[in-house]
Amino acid sequence: PFEVELRRSNRTVTVPADSSVLAAVRAELPGTLYSCEQGFCGTCQQRVLDGEVDHRDELLTDAERGDSMLICVSRALGERIVLDS
Ligand code: FES
Repeated sequence: PFEVELRRSNRTVTVPADSSVLAAVRAELPGTLYSCEQGFCGTCQQRVLDGEVDHRDELLTDAERGDSMLICVSRALGERIVLDS
């Protein structure tokens, strides 16, 4: 498990090993946008403010990976990531 801080919402959620960042974020922010849930449409892209991301999509460019992630498939490499959400 790892933590995801939703900085603008001032909340932190825990993501279990068997669930996605998207699911954890949606539990707190039901309006969070998503579509394919498989890492190819880009709808769920969010800005990352801090933390190392384990990118598991095949859509984002290296430049985009510098400051964002697809939260339906990608995860944290460490114990915590911070989203601009
Ligand atoms: Fe489509 Fe995440 S919902 S890439």
